[in-house]
Amino acid sequence: MIMNLNLKEITNRMQKFKSVKGFKDILPEDQFYWDFVRNKFISIVKSYGFERIDLPILENSGLFVKSVGSGTDMVDKEMFSFETLGKKKVSLRPEGTAGTVRSYIEHGMLNRRKPVKLFYLGPMFRYDRPQAGRYRQFHQFGLEIFGESSPVIDAQLIFLCKQLFSEIGIETDIHINSIGCQDCRKEYIGQLKNYLKKNRKNLCPDCQSRYLKNTLRVLDCKEKGCQEIVSEAPQIIDYLCDDCNKHFVKVLEYLGDAETAYQLNPLIVRGLDYYNRTVFEIFPKGNEKRQSALGAGGRYDDLVRNLGGSQEEETPAIGVALGMKRIINILKKKEDSGIITSRTSDIFVAQLGERARKKVFSLFERLRRLGFDVAEDISKTSLKQQLEEANNLKVKFALIIGQKEILDKTILIRDMESGSQEIIPEDKVEKVLIKRLKSIKKV
Ligand code: HAM
Repeated sequence: MIMNLNLKEITNRMQKFKSVKGFKDILPEDQFYWDFVRNKFISIVKSYGFERIDLPILENSGLFVKSVGSGTDMVDKEMFSFETLGKKKVSLRPEGTAGTVRSYIEHGMLNRRKPVKLFYLGPMFRYDRPQAGRYRQFHQFGLEIFGESSPVIDAQLIFLCKQLFSEIGIETDIHINSIGCQDCRKEYIGQLKNYLKKNRKNLCPDCQSRYLKNTLRVLDCKEKGCQEIVSEAPQIIDYLCDDCNKHFVKVLEYLGDAETAYQLNPLIVRGLDYYNRTVFEIFPKGNEKRQSALGAGGRYDDLVRNLGGSQEEETPAIGVALGMKRIINILKKKEDSGIITSRTSDIFVAQLGERARKKVFSLFERLRRLGFDVAEDISKTSLKQQLEEANNLKVKFALIIGQKEILDKTILIRDMESGSQEIIPEDKVEKVLIKRLKSIKKV
């Protein structure tokens, strides 16, 4: 067929699409790492009593404005927001805490046995400047605990984070601080402003406006000039009220008792409005660069009430979120991570001839249902190619069915390591495999 295409149409047809900047594919060869981390984390947090919650990716924009706060970089500069056809302002979630609180309130979880412990995992979206370890779509594994104000919970959550990382072979440094309550913060911010006033012109342009809108955030600016200025600034722990001070001392005591090492870091203030009291960040050991943080969290005792939850009853809360991709980047660099990074199977079913192929079709399914790890390459006609694939997969046994086996109702079982072969009756195949694989407790 002859088509009349103009130049523009031709170029359009040849255009190759690439993923949107900051949005990454997770390729099959990386899925082993993702499965490994996800499965480990899920099984550990479940044993600590956390239950899974899946939240929508899209929320009303107001939820983030009210929780994370206007004046924060996340809300002012980083949200993917748009209007729906029904003229509602919505945003792709930049983080998971606000949505979890919304759901907690919406579904009356207040009436559940306390503490309510939830975990979530999934993509978050921030219009950040993409660079190593920073993406516009990234995945978090988050934990949130509602209804418990005791400092032992803060310590337990931090301890748990340390365990999660140690179970996947990553050593971490925990940086911890307390930013007190509204009252202690008010006095402190006054003092901080006084101190910064003298150096205001030397602050970076962002911090000049943070000075007015969100003074605390000047403390965790990444600019060298600002960091030098804040290194001499008054520290918030010197301004904690009695209750906040007692709470923080207890958290540190519990961590000490649990032999969980931590570093006090007066510059950790967190960029989001909802935090109070304990705040912490988790870094790979010896690497405290901001964009290396593997996770972060803290208390947010007023958020449930501020978002419309019970006004009579307090709902203290604390949580943490871990950055999955940063974790996986570290594991990929480690040769000894112990993760199996290729497909593994115990058995390969091979066939020669059309009738054998039909037989293998159902044999594969029969064995798979029984719980065997089976592999096949059913589209191939050459037995040599199939056995090569069995070799690549490092399977223990290949089951081979050819014309003769079809007629005799038998199967040839080949030990791929020793090369020894045996013919077994077709209806005994399960029994024989169970016996042979028993040593590795597969079934
Ligand atoms: P966050 O510090 O904004 O806290 O994010 C937590 C973690 O998510 C970071 O430490 C980092 O590992 C990862 N992360 C954040 N932004 C990016 C990005 N652009 N690219 C790759 N990874 C990123 C929160 O989100 C709070 N909701 C944590 C929390 C839960 N607080 C209480 N509960």
